[in-house]
Amino acid sequence: MSIKILAIESSCDDTGAAVIINGKIHSNIVATQSVHEEYGGVVPELASRAHQQHIIPVVQKALKTAKTELKELNAIAFTKGPGLIGALLVGATFGKTLALSLDIPIIGVHHMKAHILAHFIEEPKPKFPFICLTVSGGHTQLVLVKDYLDFEILGTTIDDAAGEAFDKTAKLIGLPYPGGPMLDKLAKEGNPDAFQFARPRVPDLNYSFSGLKTSVLYFLNKQEEGFIEQNINDICASIQQAIIDALMLKLKKAAKEYKVKEIAIAGGVSANSGLRARLQMEGELNGWRTYIPRFEYCTDNAAMIAITAHFQYLAEDFDDQSSMPKARWPFQDYEQS
Ligand code: KG4
Ligand code: ZN
Repeated sequence: MSIKILAIESSCDDTGAAVIINGKIHSNIVATQSVHEEYGGVVPELASRAHQQHIIPVVQKALKTAKTELKELNAIAFTKGPGLIGALLVGATFGKTLALSLDIPIIGVHHMKAHILAHFIEEPKPKFPFICLTVSGGHTQLVLVKDYLDFEILGTTIDDAAGEAFDKTAKLIGLPYPGGPMLDKLAKEGNPDAFQFARPRVPDLNYSFSGLKTSVLYFLNKQEEGFIEQNINDICASIQQAIIDALMLKLKKAAKEYKVKEIAIAGGVSANSGLRARLQMEGELNGWRTYIPRFEYCTDNAAMIAITAHFQYLAEDFDDQSSMPKARWPFQDYEQS
């Protein structure tokens, strides 16, 4: 029998739907919300409304692209958390209702776990155990992945996430939200050693990024008018390097401590070209095999929810209709869903 699952992602500001058939992605549709740009950040209420508007057309397109009819589906998966509660509720309510009408099971998926399992959408796939640096707008984690559904958190950020570090510093230099991708683009033409920003000092395998934002702010306050415009590329390259240095320092420490040479990155920030290049370079230096998902599987997407749901389906890890989305959902609690 074939396993056909429709997966929905609505944790933040992208509405996504994907169809997976026997572990292979047949469609992956995303509607990005532009409504937040003028506010300089995601406005939760507006995100929920935009999900309401997009969800049916996105699901219809995903089914059509995959040439799949509703009655053929074996399960409906949705992002159960973590994320914005109002945004999650749209996907969860839609998914549960559709599953109820089709009389098929539902699968609630952990968004951060899905970012990691995006590595199993296509070749090359990492071998267990591997270490995954998961870097997004809301999370920064070093995770030891022992099996598809077996994870151990080795380290995490004690304040801002790496994506926030990109977005907040980008805002300081006047870039529109979300600043990460634009900062990346401008950094390509800049000198990463032009300016020195604070490198965090935190124990163990943890991260901290709030000091970087302060360091950039103090630095900019000392400059003359017009400095940012004249040095934008160098500033971006220097900020990016500070973030990448911090990320790599703990990743190398974790790889050494746990004697793991299979190294992956995941999450929205893994779309960063500087981080991708640096991981490849460190891989060659340290004898790692490195894994970086294709760009469309790095930022929020439903294909990653679908592949995770596929493994949960095989493990018979279903939710019941009373299950609620979770705005906060610690990784450790995942197994007790
Ligand atoms: O995983 P994601 O799409 O959403 C969350 O789950 O948070 O990550 C979004 C984050 C944002 O902070 C965005 O600025 C950052 O990923 N990002 C980037 C790049 N592309 C996305 N940061 C740096 N360079 C990029 N190219
Ligand atoms: Zn994400």
